[in-house]
Amino acid sequence: MLVMATDTVIKLEQVDVEFVEKERAVHAVDHVDLEVNRGDIYGIVGYSGAGKSTLVRLINLLQRPTSGKVTVLDQDLLQLVPAKLRQERRRVGMIFQHFNLMASRTIAENVAFPLKGTGRSKKVINAKVAELLDLVGLADRANAYPAQLSGGQKQRVGIARALASDPEILISDEATSALDPKTTASILDLLKSLNEKLGLTIVLITHEMEAVKQICTKVAVMDAGQIIERGSLLEIFAKPQQQLTKDFIDTTMQLDEALTSVLAQPTVRNLTANQRLVRLTYLGDTTDQPLIATLYQQFEVVANILFGDIQILQDTPFGNLIVVLSGEESNLTRAFDYLDSHNIQVQHIDPKEAR
Ligand SMILES: Nc1ncnc2c1ncn2[C@@H]1O[C@H](COP(=O)(O)OP(=O)(O)O)[C@@H](O)[C@H]1O
Ligand SMILES: [Mg+2]
Repeated sequence: MLVMATDTVIKLEQVDVEFVEKERAVHAVDHVDLEVNRGDIYGIVGYSGAGKSTLVRLINLLQRPTSGKVTVLDQDLLQLVPAKLRQERRRVGMIFQHFNLMASRTIAENVAFPLKGTGRSKKVINAKVAELLDLVGLADRANAYPAQLSGGQKQRVGIARALASDPEILISDEATSALDPKTTASILDLLKSLNEKLGLTIVLITHEMEAVKQICTKVAVMDAGQIIERGSLLEIFAKPQQQLTKDFIDTTMQLDEALTSVLAQPTVRNLTANQRLVRLTYLGDTTDQPLIATLYQQFEVVANILFGDIQILQDTPFGNLIVVLSGEESNLTRAFDYLDSHNIQVQHIDPKEAR
């Protein structure tokens, strides 16, 4: 039987970046390994200063590593002569938070810019620009200037320009961070459709798990130059291991706020010995199970739901409940065993400590 190899388009091996400034040395990227496969929408999430931008600048060698190996689309970039490197860079497009459009040129001219000096005729370039503007939904704004566009439209121009050289990889570095939530969602939808239509591989850098949640298939969490956790989107949301990952997820699920209001309730502050305040997290099929009814029927454990939320991740329901479970000690123990064996994550919340 023929086994198909996974098509790895980006491979970073032990890449390291140290910036040395006068007295101070910054270890921006700390021996990171990263593999991105063709067709992935790979999210890299972390707070400001984590090293995300430096890491992705290694992918087109805008940043050279202090040490390590960078393989992109089967080319060992550090071994390439400058002319060949320039050629390879065209296979990786990039979009940014501040769009970087040329104010004195029209939208069409901005998109055409990367095609200059490629030896193509004006006619061919014009046709390409029209096709790109159509792709991003701006066919009617070709002759406008950047100042006449909204933020979301400017980012669409940025995307069209990044796609001008038909890249196989698109890097998005905080591309939606300057946009309101609704515009952000429409840009993320556009990226997702480009991924599907063109088979474009996307690396999405962000400090917001919300963007990752909307379109990414994989996610890596970065902190202090290192990738501290990685996996498929569903794996990470279902079973985050690191506290930082949990914090990012809780923020996007608005669990922090939910917990604060739950803990303000008097019943929660005066739990009896046979009551437990817990958070239940479940993914997929579990959601369809009549969980609350089962706990009562099988274990005589009563669940009082204080907060409930179900969201859809990659067509899979992801549920978060905060409940008070009441029952006999032995029944509670059996109920927790049941939850555990059904892949429902149980997190005990101490009402005193949580505040
Ligand atoms: N050109 C540079 N010179 C010196 N320090 C830098 C440079 N670029 C980034 N840094 C530092 O490297 C660290 C990581 O920065 P960056 O990659 O921009 O993080 P992020 O994109 O996650 O916010 C920060 O401490 C930043 O100050
Ligand atoms: Mg950055």
